[in-house]
Amino acid sequence: MILKSKLSIIEVERGLIRNEGIPLGFIITDRNVFERNKESLKNRKEMFVIEPGEKSKSIEIYMQILKKLSEIDFVERIIAFGGGVVGDIAGFVASTYKRGIELIQIPTTLLAMVDSGIGGKNGIDIGLKKNYVGTIYQPKKILIDSSFLDSLPEKEFSNGLAEMIKHSYIMNKPKLERFCKKVNKNDKDINEIILKSAEVKIKITEKDTKDNGLRKALNFGHTIGHAIELLHNLSHGEAISIGMVKEAMLANKIGLVKQDKIDSLIKSFEVNGLPISWPKGASAEKIIEIMKYDKKGAFLFAFDIKNHNKFINEKTVRDFLKEDIDLND
Ligand SMILES: NC(=O)c1ccc[n+]([C@@H]2O[C@H](COP(=O)([O-])OP(=O)(O)OC[C@H]3O[C@@H](n4cnc5c(N)ncnc54)[C@H](O)[C@@H]3O)[C@@H](O)[C@H]2O)c1
Ligand SMILES: [Zn+2]
Repeated sequence: MILKSKLSIIEVERGLIRNEGIPLGFIITDRNVFERNKESLKNRKEMFVIEPGEKSKSIEIYMQILKKLSEIDFVERIIAFGGGVVGDIAGFVASTYKRGIELIQIPTTLLAMVDSGIGGKNGIDIGLKKNYVGTIYQPKKILIDSSFLDSLPEKEFSNGLAEMIKHSYIMNKPKLERFCKKVNKNDKDINEIILKSAEVKIKITEKDTKDNGLRKALNFGHTIGHAIELLHNLSHGEAISIGMVKEAMLANKIGLVKQDKIDSLIKSFEVNGLPISWPKGASAEKIIEIMKYDKKGAFLFAFDIKNHNKFINEKTVRDFLKEDIDLND
């Protein structure tokens, strides 16, 4: 299956890379992905393998990659082969090395297939400041081989599902009802729903490449989500699942969304093993405190395509959080 957008070409097929091989170019990957694909990588010399995890999105690793690149005469393109961490640092390398060379994303996590591998945002962290330095630079192609999901841990699969459910809620693509039935890696329609979800990200990006408007709609669930991700021991997918439920309830309170849509959202998370309730010990005051310093702006919410950057005053948010967290206890 193929989708040609103005920004990038997205191809999805089981076996796409395993059968046809990785295109020529300088490969950036991580150790986990390398270990699982030794056979197809064994003859590739132009490669840099990072340690798995967010810590590798650093200026030091960026420098090490540039040093390795500088030892090679001609580099045709950069291939990002891995999850979002690899995609982010490789994208930054591709956009800055010799003022930018071709980039191909080969995502191996579900999150990278439908979210981080698409839309061109890249970056590295400076200490605790996430994505502090980066650019927006579109990959020429995103080549998605769904067979990479076979080895992906369930927890990582769920992280991607949470973002897919977000896309469905925002644009009903694939239909939100699809997620009311559990999604498994080997479902018949897996390629189709990955492509539809990827389409939401690329279409929204196409309309707002630089993230000044519509792209903020992708932040649905992330205002509350980021706060509880920081405060509690939750994965990104878990945090934004709770965030989406709670933000949808807040939207319902001010008349922006109907209850039946929230019911479908809740069911989608439940059948797919994602949480919907506040974590133990959640505190309205602590959440409010973090929201005040949200780097995307204080008390700004993305509820839907139209209301994608809506300011809600602090008192309304506080009252909602207090009441809802009390109910949870
Ligand atoms: N650029 C963007 O638009 C954007 C959007 C969302 C998130 N992000 C970034 O993405 C990163 C998170 O990405 P992620 O969730 O893919 O995490 P990740 O890249 O850390 O991958 C998760 C884990 O899965 C392993 N892995 C990858 N593919 C595998 C496979 N096929 N089989 C088994 N294990 C595999 C990795 O080695 C890693 O341990 C964060 O740094 C975040 O900031 C970027
Ligand atoms: Zn997210």
